[in-house]
Amino acid sequence: MIVIRSQAEMRQWSREQRARGKTVGLVPTMGALHAGHASLIEASVSRDDTTVVSIFVNPAQFAPHEDYDSYPRTFQSDCETVESLGGAAVYAPTAKAMYGRDYATYIEVERLQEGLCGGTRPHFFRGVATVVTKLFNSVLPDRAYFGQKDGQQVAVIRRMVRDLDFGIEIVALPTVREKDGLALSSRNEYLSPSERARALCISRALFAARDMLEAGERDAGRIVSEVKNVMKDVEIDYAAIVDADELTPVERIEGRVMLAVAAQIGNTRLIDNIQFDPQEARASTQERARSSGA
Ligand code: PAF
Repeated sequence: MIVIRSQAEMRQWSREQRARGKTVGLVPTMGALHAGHASLIEASVSRDDTTVVSIFVNPAQFAPHEDYDSYPRTFQSDCETVESLGGAAVYAPTAKAMYGRDYATYIEVERLQEGLCGGTRPHFFRGVATVVTKLFNSVLPDRAYFGQKDGQQVAVIRRMVRDLDFGIEIVALPTVREKDGLALSSRNEYLSPSERARALCISRALFAARDMLEAGERDAGRIVSEVKNVMKDVEIDYAAIVDADELTPVERIEGRVMLAVAAQIGNTRLIDNIQFDPQEARASTQERARSSGA
């Protein structure tokens, strides 16, 4: 496995792979790799001829008061993880090379970047869309892999890729959870044991909502109020049910939706979500009934 530091070298390496007829998969990360990232790397290794993992803590997606300086940086062990999973290259440009002194160009995905996390972190998706564009332009991937835990990020990137004709397939993979339900996140390591215990109410709230949805509840207000009730011991930033592609709030659940939540626990902000599609739920209930002979 090789470590590539410059945009020019990255593009050159990718062009060589493509000239040999190989497909290139990209797993964009900010490092501090965990089992959620591993699932993305494994998916790319199994589908693409070569897998590049980018490791870049992107200053453009942090506000000045946020955790850019303290964000976990574990570069050596991240490289070992990528190598052990079969990745071909780690792309790790410097912040100086990515954003020179006179840097002036940003990507905005209107509307989709505004609600949910965009309410509290107005700078965030502009920073994500910009850095992902820059990574795409250097790595030249056929496919790029993201975790569904960052559901709004996935919707923003999908729309950007569609609107700007990138021609890159976006693959979103399910959230990986600890046994007790906590969604894996590089920021979980900020939690003290008691904060971690309190954080469990986030996934508990989402699972309670899933039970209500599976039992046929379609009133978004009733579900959100149950979610807020289960999350009453943490500081809720938002809990909302939105259309899964447009990210607009819904009152009744008729198509595919995302129930997304964000909460502050001590100094740590965590997000999580589930998706639900009433049509798919109906089809799988019918399938279960058919196979049990009912
Ligand atoms: O999800 C992340 O780790 C980051 O937002 C990403 C996509 C690597 C962009 O910096």
